[in-house]
Amino acid sequence: MDEKVNTMTAQSNNKNSVVYEIYVKSFCDSDGDGLGDLPGITSKLDYLANLGVDYLWLTPFYPSPQRDNGYDVSDYCAVDPRYGTMEDFDELVAAARERGMGIMLDMVLCHTSNQHEWFQRALAGEERYQRYYILRDGKGSMGPGDPGEPPTNWQCVFGGSAWEWEPRLGKWYLHMHDSSQPDVDWTNPDVRDEMAGVVRFWKERGVTGFRFDVINLISKPEVIDDVPGDGSACRALVADGPHVHEYLKELVERSGIDGMATVGEMASTGLESCICYTNPDEHELGMSFSFHHLKVDYKDGSKWRLMDPDIVQLRRVLSEWQEGMQAGGGCNALFWCNHDQPRAITRFGGTGLEGERGGSWEHVGKMLAICSFAMRGAPYIFQGEELGMTNADYTSIEQFDDVESHNNYRILLEGGSSQEEALRAIQARSRDNGRTPMQWTAGENAGFTCGTPWLAVPANHVRINAEDEVGAKGSMYEFYRELIALRKGSEVLADGTVRFLDTGSGAPKVIAFERVLGSERMVAICSFDSEGCTVDADSLGIAVCGDVLLSTHGGVGKLADGALALRPYEALLIAC
Ligand code: NOJ
Repeated sequence: MDEKVNTMTAQSNNKNSVVYEIYVKSFCDSDGDGLGDLPGITSKLDYLANLGVDYLWLTPFYPSPQRDNGYDVSDYCAVDPRYGTMEDFDELVAAARERGMGIMLDMVLCHTSNQHEWFQRALAGEERYQRYYILRDGKGSMGPGDPGEPPTNWQCVFGGSAWEWEPRLGKWYLHMHDSSQPDVDWTNPDVRDEMAGVVRFWKERGVTGFRFDVINLISKPEVIDDVPGDGSACRALVADGPHVHEYLKELVERSGIDGMATVGEMASTGLESCICYTNPDEHELGMSFSFHHLKVDYKDGSKWRLMDPDIVQLRRVLSEWQEGMQAGGGCNALFWCNHDQPRAITRFGGTGLEGERGGSWEHVGKMLAICSFAMRGAPYIFQGEELGMTNADYTSIEQFDDVESHNNYRILLEGGSSQEEALRAIQARSRDNGRTPMQWTAGENAGFTCGTPWLAVPANHVRINAEDEVGAKGSMYEFYRELIALRKGSEVLADGTVRFLDTGSGAPKVIAFERVLGSERMVAICSFDSEGCTVDADSLGIAVCGDVLLSTHGGVGKLADGALALRPYEALLIAC
């Protein structure tokens, strides 16, 4: 092992590390087929190293029918030819390592594709493989061949029943996501064996981190029965199930990844569970993604019912998870964006933001960056976030690709929404907002491909793109570079305690917190307010503060008579 690899291994669980998520299909296309690929990523490593990130999380590039863009895996230990070859992968790992970056792979171990050999062999009648999946008889079935009704009223995450009738099995199979993604049965030790083998396979190829897809859904309840209401409550029932910690400990031990950079995606999870997933004494994972802070604009808890973000609620959720994980010794993954979320800059800054340098668009992006990077945990950047990329600008449902968007558009229409209302919901909430091609240049197809991009490029790439931003003073990219360097060099941000602060009654849309380590103290003040406002300097303990380490607007708001005036979306990180 060379020196750089040693450094990487040693720092793998270091809270100073910054992870950059690459949505492979949309990052960089090297061969003109309109899809991003592995050589495309390799060609952009200098851009990423210059930004200062430590790990590159790659979304699935394994063979897949692409019903869910690769989260429907048909072979866990191979590269889909669309994305390159195993040699391309090895080259990428080596070239990233040379630049001091590790590769983190996405492990989709809760379900397979229905095209996976295991499912196909189950269909062909092999009992061993039938035991890999969760199969049930229908409700009210009159016997073999009669489907009856789905075994329970469970609704899958993408809308519609969580059960699919399979005549070749004479059973229904459970799928918490798309019907092409049958859930595997983790109670079966053979399944657990296979999955540990998959992780080992990639670890042996030089991967230094893993992201585990919906890993808290692997342990289903002992009794699978109807849930109250429309069936969507099954998700809370499946989340953090009875054997999840036991299975995770076993997986981590058997694949030899304890202490590596690992993160679990935890759907509908709870604080206590996440403490257990990520407290190092438990030997499960290094970090966890939870999503409660990204539901503060769900009206009545529904993703497809729109409302403005409730910042009071956001503050409550962030403080509960920050202070709660701290008390239990767990570790949050810090993020606003990923490939399943609308772009945060649009979401928290309102629509109609202009991509103009120095405009509110830029303030919102920088404010969100300060807020995230100053919290306790491990910061994540999603591709394009460092440029200030916004939601897609699609005006018709045909422009969207995502299976969840199309299912829910149909469900909204069936529920009585007009086409216009349904489209508005999809425009705001579609996962495709985060999946539009990376904006490299102001030129054709944003420099993403010389072919036809698989998903349309937003028109604002002429103003928001890497070519214009790298090296440009005050740009979003340069701001991120500065923030990353600051974060990585700061012990108080890595290891300090966190405490949320009272901003006073004049500032309900300001979130402020302190980080403290020994005699060092930093305060982050982040205004989510589109209007100016004032915060109480005494209750924030900033009256006698020293340096402003970073600010969104340049300079500082005015401090007078114990009150600090903040401009719209202003954020400050202050050393006290
Ligand atoms: C979470 C992934 O992030 C998402 O993209 C995917 O559709 C589901 N898990 C199912 O694998």
